[in-house]
Amino acid sequence: MTDPAIAANGLRKSYGDKVVLDGIDLVVPEGTIFSLLGPNGAGKTTAVNILSTLVSPDPASGAIRVGGHDLGADPQAVRAAIGVTGQFSAVDGLITGEENMLLMADLHHLPKKEGRRTAAELLDRFDLTEAARKPASTYSGGMKRRLDIAMTLVGSPRIIFLDEPTTGLDPRSRHNMWQIIRELVTDGVTVFLTTQYLEEADQLADRIAVLNNGRIAAEGSAEELKRLIPGGHVRLRFTDPHTYRSAAAALHDTARDDEALALQIPSDGSQRELRSILDRLDTAGIEADELTVHTPDLDDVFFALTGSTAVPSQTADQVHQTKENVR
Ligand SMILES: Nc1ncnc2c1ncn2[C@@H]1O[C@H](COP(=O)(O)OP(=O)(O)OP(=O)(O)O)[C@@H](O)[C@H]1O
Ligand SMILES: [Mg+2]
Repeated sequence: MTDPAIAANGLRKSYGDKVVLDGIDLVVPEGTIFSLLGPNGAGKTTAVNILSTLVSPDPASGAIRVGGHDLGADPQAVRAAIGVTGQFSAVDGLITGEENMLLMADLHHLPKKEGRRTAAELLDRFDLTEAARKPASTYSGGMKRRLDIAMTLVGSPRIIFLDEPTTGLDPRSRHNMWQIIRELVTDGVTVFLTTQYLEEADQLADRIAVLNNGRIAAEGSAEELKRLIPGGHVRLRFTDPHTYRSAAAALHDTARDDEALALQIPSDGSQRELRSILDRLDTAGIEADELTVHTPDLDDVFFALTGSTAVPSQTADQVHQTKENVR
């Protein structure tokens, strides 16, 4: 077993009275994608800044190792192993994309020739060759983000921190960025990603941790997290109030929404359960105008864990009871 790429024990950080990280544990195996999810202000950027040596953790924190090096004892070695694409762009808009890349090559002390070669290769890989000689201020949001990541890769880091890499990108640029991130991992790179988009974590991450109130509220694969949340159901909608009422009378274990003329039947979404629901409808001679199957998704998990009102609070309690099983 090799060392994990990132291992933090009891990571703590407070600003004055405000506890931002209240002793969190993180383990990220090499060559995997780890996603830290959390609402605004949860402490995602703080965690990235600490793990990438930009901000020091509170002294009460436990051991933190990144790339096999102790963060406190050997920050230089950590810095040599990692690349960071911050939440806010590091791109200098006044110079060209190519000049931004060459600047990074200089910072990494690459010999001139190698720097030029690396810059050209990365610009090509990120589809920026054509724009390379234009001022970066003229780039679109997606192009800037790609340049940002290309700059991070100049030093060939084995561990990459991406702080909200796709915030503000349109769906196509977001998918392109996902593809880029997947390719990084194919090359054996470890990715520590923060995001507000649950779909993004669902698509990319091997493991996901939800940060809330300074603690990890739940951690697991997307599938494991979804299993924490009850609430799968079949929803039947009617347009005719009379049909709706007779359906409600015929089906007992339903939740009624009289205003929307909709019934919800608890269901795990399996073929067998769906068939049994349809059989009961047929037997009662009921035809719904619309039938939809709702399986809990990461949004449900997120809302339940981060205390939004979108899910009954009892759901969050159930999650707290079961979360130990997932860890
Ligand atoms: N240098 C600082 N001094 C004081 N408070 C800070 C400092 N940096 C961060 N904070 C506070 O720490 C908390 C967490 O901030 P952080 O930027 O880590 O959140 P985040 O999860 O990245 O949020 P977002 O999704 O908005 O990027 C916030 O309440 C923020 O105000
Ligand atoms: Mg942030």
